[in-house]
Amino acid sequence: MPRTVAVLVGSLRKASFSRKAALALAEVAPDPLALDIVEIRDLPLYDEDAEAAGPPAAWIAFRDKVRPADAVLFVTPEYNRSVPGGLKNAIDVGSRPYGKSVWNGKPGAVVSVSPGALGAYGANHHLRQSLVFLNVPAMQQPEAYIGGAAGLFDETGKLTNEATRTFLTSFMAAFARWIEANRTG
Ligand SMILES: Cc1cc2nc3c(=O)[nH]c(=O)nc-3n(C[C@H](O)[C@H](O)[C@H](O)COP(=O)(O)O)c2cc1C
Repeated sequence: MPRTVAVLVGSLRKASFSRKAALALAEVAPDPLALDIVEIRDLPLYDEDAEAAGPPAAWIAFRDKVRPADAVLFVTPEYNRSVPGGLKNAIDVGSRPYGKSVWNGKPGAVVSVSPGALGAYGANHHLRQSLVFLNVPAMQQPEAYIGGAAGLFDETGKLTNEATRTFLTSFMAAFARWIEANRTG
């Protein structure tokens, strides 16, 4: 069965390593999985008053894109040892209105990316904390902390590091199995 995966990239930067990693993940994903990046750039900051007044069109469009997906994949850098604000905002937007969270029950996975050596470990785990509350069963193994990101891609953005490609391929194969084992829809 084909499965759709909404991909959230935690960086807004044009030359983002996280976005390059997300594109590489789409490339190596096994056949049943179709990955689609859902953009978070234009989401106004979450505000309960705006929700009550009638939510901004960008929130509605975002929720409508994530809701039908079978699964969700987060590919994110780390800002100050945590989740970048733009990604956290997107998570908050998707979680409301109360009782209508688009995340609820969707199998998920987290890939964190950094030019540093620690592979954005802090962001990865802070994100997992929100996923527990949001009832997203997040794949535990393999974990994906992609460090040294500046040395993994060529000037066109293509992943050139073979060991990383092999790892990401096995990561996506495991995620496909995780989705089948944890899907509720
Ligand atoms: C506000 C800010 C905070 C950052 N904090 C961290 C950090 O805590 N850990 C880390 O590994 N890199 C940190 N960085 C560096 C990012 O990892 C680096 O800019 C990376 O390229 C961003 O991801 P991207 O390439 O996907 O845009 C920070 C960058 C910014 C702009």
